[in-house]
Order: sequence, then structure tokens, then C-alpha cells
Amino acid sequence: MLSGKNILIGITGGIAAYKICELIRMFKRANANVRVICTKNALNFVTKLTLQNLSQNEVGVEEFELDEYKPEHISYADEADIMLIAPATANTISKIAHGICDNLLTSVVCAFRKPVIIAPAMNCNMWENPIIQKNLQKLSSIGYKILEPESGFLACGYEGKGRLCSLEKIFEETIQILNSTNSNNQKKYVITAGGTIEDIDPVRYISNYSSGKMGIALADEAYKNGNETILITTVDVERPYKVIKVKSAEQMQDAVNKEFDTADVIIMAAAVADYRVKNKSEQKIKKTCDDELTLELVKNPDILKGLCEKKQNEMSKPRDVKIVGFCAESENLLQNAKEKITKKGCDFLIANDISRKDIGFSSDYNEVTILKKNGESKKLERASKQEIARQILKEINE
Ligand code: PMT
Repeated sequence: MLSGKNILIGITGGIAAYKICELIRMFKRANANVRVICTKNALNFVTKLTLQNLSQNEVGVEEFELDEYKPEHISYADEADIMLIAPATANTISKIAHGICDNLLTSVVCAFRKPVIIAPAMNCNMWENPIIQKNLQKLSSIGYKILEPESGFLACGYEGKGRLCSLEKIFEETIQILNSTNSNNQKKYVITAGGTIEDIDPVRYISNYSSGKMGIALADEAYKNGNETILITTVDVERPYKVIKVKSAEQMQDAVNKEFDTADVIIMAAAVADYRVKNKSEQKIKKTCDDELTLELVKNPDILKGLCEKKQNEMSKPRDVKIVGFCAESENLLQNAKEKITKKGCDFLIANDISRKDIGFSSDYNEVTILKKNGESKKLERASKQEIARQILKEINE
């Protein structure tokens, strides 16, 4: 079932560490190549020799142990298709959430660019601690899969939530993620998010109400499906995949164009300003006695249209990049969207109504209609932006 798959298991110092011996056997029985790294504390609960025998591989504990040309944390991270940390203690969870790399395990996960599953196990009071919950939310929001602990009798004598979830659950989740991240189907997604910022002077700018949530949800989904993902955004955001921060429409265009040649899918979810100030002032514009101030604007490049033209001009080449635009309208949504897909020339156009407060700009929800080049369309009912992102990716890959 898992033939050819490389699974990296990180074990931290909790009593549930002993259960991972059986998990390793389950993966080995399914023909996976299993490598194990432990924190020093994990070895209080399970021996290195046991893990080595079961995984049939060297077990890593200390950094700088291996005699290879790459530093260990990079070689472990490069080799594995998936990493799972079980049991994950409150300590390790918090370190990962803050980017702390003070042992082999935390360094590896920091360098890891593929799916990560975290299965926490700890005392119930520690589990309920808002700091731990916040750290878990942070990890979940950047794409780590958290398998929540179960409730029951805990080794520390307490009764409550904190017991490592079942090994079957970890096993099945790993298989499901590996199946959906089949590297043969891996694509390169380039996704833009957020409103561009066009400076007027050093203190003022022209922008819009885009929060970047829709584009980020799309990038998270692409990444979760095992794709190489590049998010080009005006928003400050930390993700386990590559994020390129830009400000203006021109900067966004430069960044997207640089990725064009190697991209399989480009999604323009960003709200790009159509105009920028013609003569941006280097100094703060002073108030005068005039009642009016006129700003002269010039058109920004149409990034989406430029990409579609580029694709059109390269028709002779066999490479097929899918180009997806968004369409933000406050009236006549579908009529305007139909005109826009023809005008821009993209393969798909996702139309959303930005006059509604319960979807669109800044909301956690959206409701969209997907228009295809061939005239077909499909409405996606109101749902979280994550769910809408999932359905959009499914639709454009059919
Ligand atoms: O960010 P959120 O708060 O989550 O909100 C999501 C969203 C409403 C911003 C998003 O879903 C959305 O609709 N994005 C596109 C907004 C927009 O610029 O729409 P438009 O109809 O003006 O542009 C059509 C398309 O052309 C878009 O893909 C846009 O990225 C692109 N464009 C527009 C102008 C320009 N100069 N260059 C472009 O590439």
C-alpha cells in the first residue's frame, strides 16, 4: 500500500511514545520506508535500539550526527514524503509554532515543505491551556494537520482529553494525505492574494478591502494536496510554503511573471488596483489653502490579461498552464463576469459578489460562480473560504 513512500516519524517525550513502536510496524507492514527521529526526552520512554530495529533504519536524535554532505535536518526533510510527530508534547508543539529549532526534530520540521501531521498527547490541563490551544491553531492555520487527542484515563492519573488518538487514525490519515499528494500529480501553483497598495506619498496610499483570505485559502488547499505552492501577496502571512511579499500591482506583476514559465496553475485572487498615482510624491504632500487636491492616476498593467496573452503567444509549446481569474462585482455579477472572461481570456473566472457583507471582501465565507472558457458555469453555495477553495481546485482540475 505504501510501497515507495518515505515516512518520517518524530517522537517526543511523552508516555505515549511506546505506542509508536506499533505504528512503525503498521507502516512497515504496508511497505513504507520509515525513518525515526526522537527528542532526547523521548528516549526516556522508548529505546533507540527498539526504534532502529522496528524501522530498520538509523534513528536520529542529535543534530550533526550523520556523515553526509547535507546537514541532517535538510537530508531528513528532503527524503520524506510526509512527516508525523507523535506523540507531540506541549513543549515541542510550542517550539514548532514559534519556529524554534533547538534539536534535530524541531529543525527538521522547520525545514519540511511537505505535509506534516501532529498528534498531540499530554495532561488534560496542559491540553486546555489557552497558550497550547493558540499554538495549535497557529499550526493548523498554516497547513499542519492536527489529530486531536482523545478523552479518557490519562497516564498521569487524570481523566480528560489528552490521550494520543488511535494509531489507526494516524495510519489512515497518513495514507489519505499521501494518496492525495501523489507526487506524479504534483503541480506548481502560483496564487496571488490581497489588495495591492499604490503609494500616493510616504504616508498615504490607494488600496481596497481585500484581506487576502480567499487567495490564502486557495494556496493552503493547493499545498495540502501536495503541490508546490507559491503565494504572492500583499499581506503579512507565515506559511510552510513559499510566500513572496509584494506591495504594488507592478511588483505583483513582476513576481507572477517570474513564475510563469514553470507554473501549471496561476490563480489571480488578488484585488489589483486598476490605477496608480502618476507622480508619486517622495515627500509627504502638505495641506494647502486650496479646497481641492487632484491626484492624477495612470492605468496599472492588467496582470491577468498579460498572462493570458503570454499563454496565447506560446500556444505552439506543449506546456499547458491553467489561468484562473477572479471577478469582484457589486452589480450584474454574472453578466459582467461573462464579459470579463472573454475580455481577459482566462480559462476559468471565479465570480463573487462584493456588495454582500456575509461573503466576499474580508469575510471568512464566500459564494461564487465558476465560469469556464467554454461557456459552462457552476455555482458554489455559501461556505467557508477553505471549503470554497477546495471546491474551486477540484473543479479546475477535472
Ligand atoms: O481577499 P478577501 O478579503 O478574501 O476577498 C476576496 C476577493 C473578493 C478579493 C477575491 O475573491 C476577488 O474577487 N479577487 C479579485 C478582485 C479583483 O480585482 O477583481 P476584478 O474584477 O477587478 O479583476 C478581475 C481579475 O483581474 C482578477 O483576477 C484580478 O486579480 C485581475 N486583475 C485586475 C486588475 C489588474 N490591473 N490586473 C489584474 O490582474
